[in-house]
Amino acid sequence: MGARVREVDPAVEGKRVLVTGSAGAIGRRVCDALLARGHHVRGFDRVANDRLEDDQIGDLRDRDAIDRAVDGIDCVIHLGAYRNDADFMDVLLEPNVIGMYHVCNAVREARVNRLVLASSVQVLTGLDESQRPHRPEGGAAPTNDYAMTKVWAEVAGEMLARCHGVSVIAVRIGWVPVRPPDMEKLQGSATGLSIFFSHNDAKRFFTLCVESPRPESGEFVILNGASRPASKPYMDLTAAREVIGYEPQDNVADGLDWDYPPVRD
Ligand SMILES: NC(=O)c1ccc[n+]([C@@H]2O[C@H](COP(=O)([O-])OP(=O)(O)OC[C@H]3O[C@@H](n4cnc5c(N)ncnc54)[C@H](O)[C@@H]3O)[C@@H](O)[C@H]2O)c1
Repeated sequence: MGARVREVDPAVEGKRVLVTGSAGAIGRRVCDALLARGHHVRGFDRVANDRLEDDQIGDLRDRDAIDRAVDGIDCVIHLGAYRNDADFMDVLLEPNVIGMYHVCNAVREARVNRLVLASSVQVLTGLDESQRPHRPEGGAAPTNDYAMTKVWAEVAGEMLARCHGVSVIAVRIGWVPVRPPDMEKLQGSATGLSIFFSHNDAKRFFTLCVESPRPESGEFVILNGASRPASKPYMDLTAAREVIGYEPQDNVADGLDWDYPPVRD
């Protein structure tokens, strides 16, 4: 893989950021974006990210490994998870629930300032269509076990902010294609068109989550993350604009550049 150009902004104060899921489709791109902004990025994943100098290989089930990973960190972006619906007991429980639990406790004990956690647009699928575009304050209504683990992550994040003074952002991530056929699938679905989240918009979004002064310590926010919708909007982006200054730039018609080979299942 080619080396990335570093476009360090001298006005940005470099932060020490831990990205879990750093070898994943979103994680690899977010790591690139943060490095380009001059932040120190530490990865944590079962799989190596060969673009990172500070890359810790470990499992989300291993609390000691997570403790080592959060040591000296200002902000954790927790993306590591199983990213689709699957058997709860056999597949989802350990990475999505126990892993999230370990990350929250490690963040609290290490006094990390901010946690940015990956929720999903899928927490909204049981809500009434008439409520579209969905706002974060409209609640959640999961219809599968994967989405239920993401509601649990949001609640765990809210408690971490309220009880332990951490600044927490839960991102309801739209649809980030992880391999080229996803684009075809997404373009054939009216909902898909309205929840597309491009690689570059996701990079900008998570960079803002690191650099934004808000949320303050003890403040919890849920933000919807998507690009410009190509059909009736599914998620309302007002909170993301107001809290972190996010403005989507891409539309599904712009396509995607596949700067990485597709991730494995
Ligand atoms: N891609 C999307 O459209 C989408 C939409 C909504 C939410 N999300 C969420 O965003 C996050 C990142 O998604 P992605 O698309 O990059 O998925 P991905 O599968 O490409 O990346 C997830 C990463 O987590 C790592 N991981 C999984 N279990 C682990 C474990 N036990 N220990 C250590 N590492 C482990 C995997 O190795 C992988 O690199 C996930 O939390 C996912 O649920 C993704």
